[in-house]
Parts: sequence; C-alpha cells; structure tokens
Amino acid sequence: MKLGRNDPCWCGSHRKYKSCHMMFDDKLEKLREQGVLVPDHSLIKTPEQIEGIKASAKINMACLDAVGEVIHAGMSTQEIDDIVYRVTTEMGGIPAPLNYQGFPKSVCTSINDVVCHGIPDEDMILEDGDIVNVDVSTIYKGYFSDSSRMFLIGNVSDNDRKLVQVTKEAMEKGLEKVRPWTHLGDMAQAVHEYVEKHGFSVVREIGGHGIGLEFHEDPWVSYVANAGEEMMMVPGLCFTIEPMVNAGKPDVVLDDEDGWTIYTEDGSKSAQWEIQVVVTETGCEVLCW
Ligand code: MF3
Ligand code: CO
Repeated sequence: MKLGRNDPCWCGSHRKYKSCHMMFDDKLEKLREQGVLVPDHSLIKTPEQIEGIKASAKINMACLDAVGEVIHAGMSTQEIDDIVYRVTTEMGGIPAPLNYQGFPKSVCTSINDVVCHGIPDEDMILEDGDIVNVDVSTIYKGYFSDSSRMFLIGNVSDNDRKLVQVTKEAMEKGLEKVRPWTHLGDMAQAVHEYVEKHGFSVVREIGGHGIGLEFHEDPWVSYVANAGEEMMMVPGLCFTIEPMVNAGKPDVVLDDEDGWTIYTEDGSKSAQWEIQVVVTETGCEVLCW
C-alpha cells in the first residue's frame, strides 16, 4: 500500500508523508532494486520509540553503575544478579534475560574464558585477577535496552588488561564507522582489523542484533564481516555493537550441561563490551552503554 503525498507519515510524526519519510522511502526502494540489503519499516525507530529506549537504557546503565561500585574479589556472581534485579525492579523495569528462552537469571556474568551467557551462581566467586563481563538488558514500558561492561578484579595481569582495553577500543573503532548509507560490514571491518592488529581474535558465531521493540531484532550483526557487506545502516536503525574478543583462537564451545555458557575452545581469556546505538541523519547516537 502506497501512501499519498499528503497522508500522515507511517512513522507517527503527524507530519505529511511528503515532508517526512517520502524521500527516504524512495531512496530505500532504489537501493533495494539495486540489490542492496536495506531494513524495512519495522526496523526503523521513530523519535517516540527512541525516547522509550532511552528511558529503558537509563535503568540498564544504573544497574551497571551499581555493580561497578561494589564489585570485588570474594563476591559471588549471584550477588551481581541480586543487584541487577533490585535496581531494575525498583526503577520499574523488568530484567530482559530473566526467563528469556529459559535463561534462569537476570543478568549474564562471564568470567575469564567464558565468552558470554555465563549464569550467575552463589558458588561462583570472583577471584583476584579475574576479568568479568556483566551484560545487562532491560525492558521498560515495552522498550528494550542492552549493554555490557568489563570489570577488572584486583590485580589483573598486563595481558588480560590489554585484552580488555583493546576490546573496548575495538568497539569504539566500530562506533566511529556507524553512519547512514554505509554498511554494517564497514563497522565490522574496523572492529576486527583493530583486534587482529593487536594479536587477538573476534568470535564469529555470536554477534550483535537489532533491538528496541524486541530483545533481538534483525539485523544479526557480525564483527568479522568486511566493508561493503551486510545490511545498510539507515537513520532509525537501532542495534548493538558487542564484539567478543578472544586472546587466543576465535573458536567457542557451548556448555552442554547448562545449555547457555559459551567458553573459548582453547581456554584463552575472552572480553566483551557492548553498547546500543541508533543511526541518525548525520552519524549515530549511543543510547545505552
Ligand atoms: N545481552 C545478551 C545478548 O545480547 C543477552 C543474552 S540472552 C540471555 O544476547 F538470555 F542469556 F540473557
Ligand atoms: Co546484546
């Protein structure tokens, strides 16, 4: 169904189509005809939806701030889960991981050679020298936010510090490449080139995702793709930049017993940082970090 020039725009702006998304739609249609992978309307966030996501992100970031203030050697990952559950619910949110496809806790806590999706447990105690990723995701009034940070526990080796730092910088290199009418692969190439320059590797099988109205929306986001590949970034597209970086080989294995925890196959350490961004007319805006 084609909108008339004077019809209200599909984005909910209450503006006429011709002065809102009409040229945008024409541009997308031409690109689609040329064989470029472009997102459809369902993935384009409206200004109102972006405000909703920001409100959700406020809770998400408050959780990570609260964890960062108290995380220490001797603490269990269950205590981290307790903090995330408490802060989220006190602020009116719902922890998105809780019961998500059977995930039993409110947050993922991934220590050392755990790549991602570590399950908090009262018997899992943080030790001096550990590196740990805390991955928080929030639902608030139907809007989803998602970000993760690394924490250094006590005296961390120089190599492990470097892994954590390079991973953060790689995410930032990717962020610099997020602008409209370029490809997700442009961002991905910036990430993996930076990682490989430092002698580390990027996990291939697990990536980022679109997010906003659902926890995991299209597109799936690779960090090993190359420039010109993958979906085109257009204003309103909202997704995560969350590369997982291994000190050794990129290969990963799933823990068959719990069905969630992902480890490096070679036992090397792994780090991850995650932010959530939305593409704008001129570049992008970081919504959650
Ligand atoms: N933040 C993680 C992600 O982006 C959440 C993992 S899903 C869970 O996929 F169920 F493990 F929480
Ligand atoms: Co995510």
